[in-house]
Amino acid sequence: MDRKEFLRNLGFLTAGAALLSSEQVLSASPVPTDNEVDFPVKGLKANVKGPVKVIIIGAGNRGRTYAEYAKKFPECMQVVGVSDIRESRKNAMGDRFGIPQEHRFGDWSEVFSVPRFADAVVISTPDDTHYHPCMKALQWGYDVLLEKPVAQSEKECTDIAAQAHKYGRIVAVCHVLRYSPYFRAMYQAIHSGMIGKLISIQHMEPIECRHMAHSYVRGNWRDSKKTTPIILAKSCHDLDILRWFVGKPCKSIVADGSLTWFKSENAPEGAPKRCTDGCPVESTCPYSAIDIYVKRKQHLGVFDLKNPKDESEIMSKISDPSNEWGRCVYYCDNDQPDHFVSEMVFEDGTTASFSMEAFTPYGGRRTRVMGTTGYIEGDGKQFTVYEFRSNRKLVWDKKISDIPEYKGSGHGGGDMALVCDFLEAVSAHDESLLTSSIDASIESHVMGFRAEKSRLSRKKVEVK
Ligand SMILES: NC(=O)c1ccc[n+]([C@@H]2O[C@H](COP(=O)([O-])OP(=O)(O)OC[C@H]3O[C@@H](n4cnc5c(N)ncnc54)[C@H](O)[C@@H]3O)[C@@H](O)[C@H]2O)c1
Repeated sequence: MDRKEFLRNLGFLTAGAALLSSEQVLSASPVPTDNEVDFPVKGLKANVKGPVKVIIIGAGNRGRTYAEYAKKFPECMQVVGVSDIRESRKNAMGDRFGIPQEHRFGDWSEVFSVPRFADAVVISTPDDTHYHPCMKALQWGYDVLLEKPVAQSEKECTDIAAQAHKYGRIVAVCHVLRYSPYFRAMYQAIHSGMIGKLISIQHMEPIECRHMAHSYVRGNWRDSKKTTPIILAKSCHDLDILRWFVGKPCKSIVADGSLTWFKSENAPEGAPKRCTDGCPVESTCPYSAIDIYVKRKQHLGVFDLKNPKDESEIMSKISDPSNEWGRCVYYCDNDQPDHFVSEMVFEDGTTASFSMEAFTPYGGRRTRVMGTTGYIEGDGKQFTVYEFRSNRKLVWDKKISDIPEYKGSGHGGGDMALVCDFLEAVSAHDESLLTSSIDASIESHVMGFRAEKSRLSRKKVEVK
């Protein structure tokens, strides 16, 4: 009997598990064979009374991603309104979902100039445009799927939690990783007793060198003051995962790190301000815009290209002096650290260390979990549970591509799984159907703000 057959007999393959709630999935027992372990995966079709009506505010990369759920499961979700200050994006989404003209809005505030006409809003605008639309949406009686980071300060984050409680609405924060089958399975492995009592965690987020250059040196999240410090902008997912795995509040945090490399003093001799202006080291520079965008064709979503295969169109975009992605990485207006280390102590004495690293050739979180009777080590795709006494090594290696429903769902399947849980929570008016309440999401954000405070003050900071 092969592994798939074994699991099917136990009713643990996706189709059989489709009706399980998140809570049932997360408390299910492991299914070990001699050298593998599996856990049920929740299906993506939301268990809702009827289609949940949703307005997308911010029809960019993230807004489009969540809206696509409605194409996959129209019986569970309908996109009935859109807001984007870019006409082209507003109308592209409007046309794709057949949204009437009167429900196509420009600035987010226009959505709240008409009476409530949907169950929920998705707020997927830039980081500095989360707080006000979220506060307004809650007041207007909408439930909210809110992109991370929740807001730009601790005070704004706690305001949002208070507003959600005041109006009795649901706010689900897009901590997509905790909805991915990989992290859900790791959570299950920790909490099923396989490694005894949890003692400590080492977690690393390798950003990948080109992703760092694209997003945190040249791009949208380069300026911590206009967005949020990188520990939130990039790593609030990781703090959320650590808090979730430990299951206890964080007591204190100490952090360090800095922007060491992407500064003008490190520019190669003779480098011009833009890669396309005849840079003498362009052919060897790992951060060359020509290499990243034209040759490797990475991160092209920001350019709104007519034809992403047309190299001359990409070249003309990055050659345009007003285009930020054509700039030399040593001459940008960036301030985000390129390395960040931190150590946390939780209420029960569990410790966690977290590193965010720009200079890696790969992405995908690396995690090591130390328990009293076992150990887990994972690379973001596959993890191994080591049992000390038996010397058994059990591998979890479910591929998203092997679960038909999850195919194409970003963040290891977390994107669509998050929408599914959100719709179920909205339909049942029950926040507990989400794996994370707004209060828990705010708590991990507070950890981020305190980590930044510690990095800047070089002092250990208490977390309440
Ligand atoms: N959960 C995740 O893993 C994840 C991943 C990437 C980005 N994000 C977050 O998602 C958010 C959106 O990121 P993105 O990559 O989709 O950005 P994006 O730039 O592709 O999309 C944002 C959209 O908001 C629109 N917009 C800006 N101001 C507006 C306003 N006043 N009213 C209406 N629309 C407005 C923009 O025109 C744009 O189309 C950011 O906060 C980002 O940090 C989360």
